[in-house]
Amino acid sequence: MSIIVADDTIMYHIGLSRAMLSGVRYAILPGDPGRVEKICQALGKYVVLNFNREYKSALVTINAEPVLVCSTGMGGPSVAICLEELATLGVEKFIRVGTTGAIQEKISIGDIVINTGAIRLDGTSTHYAPLEYPAIADVYLAQAFIKIAKEEKVNFHVGLSVSSDTFWPGQERYNSYTGYVLNKFRGSLKEWQALGALNYEMETATLFTLGQVFGLQAISICLVVAKRTDSEAVLEKNLWSKLENQMYQYLKTSICYCQKNNI
Ligand code: URA
Repeated sequence: MSIIVADDTIMYHIGLSRAMLSGVRYAILPGDPGRVEKICQALGKYVVLNFNREYKSALVTINAEPVLVCSTGMGGPSVAICLEELATLGVEKFIRVGTTGAIQEKISIGDIVINTGAIRLDGTSTHYAPLEYPAIADVYLAQAFIKIAKEEKVNFHVGLSVSSDTFWPGQERYNSYTGYVLNKFRGSLKEWQALGALNYEMETATLFTLGQVFGLQAISICLVVAKRTDSEAVLEKNLWSKLENQMYQYLKTSICYCQKNNI
C-alpha cells in the first residue's frame, strides 16, 4: 500500500509538497541541477520551485499542463530518494534525461540512446528487489519515445544500458587517481559489448527497478558524450550544448505526444 501525505507536507530531501505539484503527471529527471533551467527554457514558460542539495526543481508549462523538471544528482542512492519522494507526492511518469558513454562502434557522439532495460551494476536497486528482478522501462513510454525519434529523424539506438555505481572502475576507466581497476571489471567493457549492451551511465537501473516495483512508468533517454570504443574521454561540455538542445526538442515533441495520447 502506498503512503498518502497531506497536501502541505514538504518532502525532506526534494523540498516539495503535493500542493506545489498539483496537476503534475510527468517528471523530467536530469542528473545535473545545472541542466534544470536549460531544459525548462527549451520547453516553455517555467517557474523554479526549490533547490536543496542535488535536487533543483521547476515547473514548466507544456500544452497548459504543469510538468516537473527535477534533478536527481548522480547515481542510484540520490535517484532512489528523488523517486520515493516524488511518488509519495503522486507523480506517476518519470523521464530520465541524461548523458552517457557508448560502448558499441555503431553509436556516435551526439546520438541518443533510448534505454528499454538496464544491467544492474548499481547497489541501490538491490535494496528494493533481488538481482533476478529485471530493470525495465515502461513499455508504453518506450514505444512513444521510439515513435517520435523515428518521426523526428533523431539518430537513436534502443537497448540496454550498463548502469554502474562508479564512473571509473565500474565503467572500466583506467584514467582514475590510482589507475587500478578491480579484476572483476577488467575486460568488462568488451563483455557488455559482446552481450549487446549499448552504453554506460549511472542512474537508469535504479530508476527502472523502482519504477517497476512501485508500479509507475519510467523511461530513460541519454545523449552520447563519450565514445568508449575510441577513448575514455568525455566531450567538453561547451561542445555538446547544441546537441543537448536538439535532445530537448525531441523530448518536448515526445511529451506532447504522450500528453495527447494519455501515455
Ligand atoms: N556518464 C557516464 O556515466 N559515463 C560516461 O562515459 C558519460 C556520461
